[in-house]
Amino acid sequence: MKPVTISTLREMKRTQTPIACLTAYDYSFASLLDRCGVDLVMVGDSLGMVMQGNDSTLPVTMADAIYHTRCVARGVQRALIVSDLPFMSYQRNAEQALANAGRLMSRGGAHVVKLEGGAPMADTVRFLVERGIPVCGHLGLTPQSVHQLGGYKVQGREQAAAEGIRTDALALAQAGASLLVLEAVPAELAATITRELDIPTIGIGAGTDTDGQVLVLQDMLGIYPRPSPKFSRNFMTGTDSIEAAIRAYVAAVKSRTFPGPEHSFHAA
Ligand code: KIV
Repeated sequence: MKPVTISTLREMKRTQTPIACLTAYDYSFASLLDRCGVDLVMVGDSLGMVMQGNDSTLPVTMADAIYHTRCVARGVQRALIVSDLPFMSYQRNAEQALANAGRLMSRGGAHVVKLEGGAPMADTVRFLVERGIPVCGHLGLTPQSVHQLGGYKVQGREQAAAEGIRTDALALAQAGASLLVLEAVPAELAATITRELDIPTIGIGAGTDTDGQVLVLQDMLGIYPRPSPKFSRNFMTGTDSIEAAIRAYVAAVKSRTFPGPEHSFHAA
């Protein structure tokens, strides 16, 4: 079984082969996702909400991120592992980002680190990449900025805001990011960014035209006790096992039947 690398994902973008991605935070689920053909396993700081029961991702610490990444890494043989740098573990300066990204990779076993933010983070991204750390950006609804955004809201509906996200995406790609997550943005904007960049985009609430899709595992299994976002779908509906639900998700992403119009947003 050939492991998925950044080059694999670039080739998948080139050949328009959709990239299936899910979050995981522990050994057993990571191993199941890997067996079901998930290409990219994301150890998101959503763990603060779905594993720890917090109201936001903000309380997640570096120790939490390393612990969950290590658990996931033990379960994965094929998929690429992308781990979130927690809130305030990279924003202070590039040196802080380098130290914590290094810990996430050497102690946790992450292959790529993910950080939130656009052009203001570009110098940090460049600093990491020049020192051998692959980076995934995250734009649109950036949950670590929930209080600044005034809630978990769709971003980039107005033209000026959309233009800002587009500029941010180009800045991250030019700084050397290997991947880009686009969360809760209009489908047309995500499609434009995906066309303009040569790095793969992974959408969550960003329409069908991104290079890949990601969902939070607990949302797509329908087990998160609080309301799930409109862009998610419960894949347990109509299946009789967790494995069947995950396989159905991978098949739906690969055939571009998920997300449907009911999971997408549009410009104002
Ligand atoms: O924290 C997370 O799980 C994420 C993904 C869903 C994109 O950032």
